[in-house]
Amino acid sequence: MTDQKRVFSGMQPTGDPHVGNVIGALSNWVRMQDEYDTIYCVVDLHAMTAPYDPANLRRERADLAKMILAAGVDPERSLLYYQSEVPQHVELAWILSTLTGVGHLERMTQFKEKADMGGQTLGLLAYPVLQAADILIHRVHAVPVGNDQAQHLELTRDLAERFNSRFGHVFPIPERITPEIGARVMSLADPTSKMSKSDPSLKSRILLTDSTDQIMKKVKSAVTDTGTEVAFDWEDKPGISNLLEIFSFFSDRSIDDLVSEYGASGYGAFKVAVGEAVAEGLKPIRDAYEGMSDAEVGEVMASSATRAREMADGTMTFVRESVGLA
Ligand code: AMP
Ligand code: TRP
Repeated sequence: MTDQKRVFSGMQPTGDPHVGNVIGALSNWVRMQDEYDTIYCVVDLHAMTAPYDPANLRRERADLAKMILAAGVDPERSLLYYQSEVPQHVELAWILSTLTGVGHLERMTQFKEKADMGGQTLGLLAYPVLQAADILIHRVHAVPVGNDQAQHLELTRDLAERFNSRFGHVFPIPERITPEIGARVMSLADPTSKMSKSDPSLKSRILLTDSTDQIMKKVKSAVTDTGTEVAFDWEDKPGISNLLEIFSFFSDRSIDDLVSEYGASGYGAFKVAVGEAVAEGLKPIRDAYEGMSDAEVGEVMASSATRAREMADGTMTFVRESVGLA
């Protein structure tokens, strides 16, 4: 391992990635390659904590890997692998689970939300412990994620501190890196809830594979607010504010700048401009995705996993010694 600072992040292969994933997470994954040793993971074991179909999981895993590469994660500079191919994640998760209170896990927002949808399995309860192991196994310093992962990151930091004080210093305490704009992209169908892969309404989100036509339609049908003025005001104009953030990201212009240009142009013209910016911004990703073969992706995943296993085993050597298993 080099002395350069490391980052890790993961994404679940459940459903197609959308602009919220790009703005909140993937864009940081790509950007951070310039500054850090970057390690990224398609967290297939996490995807098994919700009801799923094996054939779908196999396909979605490969699709997500291809999408991450298409979005600009560069295999020359980053590791990108399937979580299940590096079994040390699970080994460390077991050890961390012995330091985790069941009550703490039961109180976590994601568990409560998902458990309400049925299926209170041990896997779902233990989900955040596996996530902590994903991060700690590589002893990283930073984790680029959207706002929704704040609680999971707190648990990870907590477990790292607990481990270090009980067994000696092994883990750095990782920081959460969240973008200032777009840490929480909202649903186009309901701007008071998060844009999410699991929302039953397809109009709620723009997929990275959507055609220009589909993007224009979805933006035009986005729920907006009363009035006609394009203004950045999350209280009174959540729909317009959400579109402004998305627009700002894809046009690389400040919100103030956009408001001064579109403030009085009416929602219709504003939405056309937003749709065009999104379509243009996603085009390179879509093109790269379509141009990449499954075999190419398979090779990247296999060689990264080999390297990641070696790195993870380095950490586990310290961990096993510290806890009395070696
Ligand atoms: P998920 O879609 O839950 O697998 O999340 C993958 C990554 O995208 C995580 O880092 C999330 O924090 C981020 N993310 C997911 N949905 C959004 C959203 N609506 N806005 C911003 N970031 C998001
Ligand atoms: N829980 C994360 C999500 O839903 C996915 C994830 C799993 C993750 N392991 C991780 C994110 C480690 C960052 C680091 O988006």
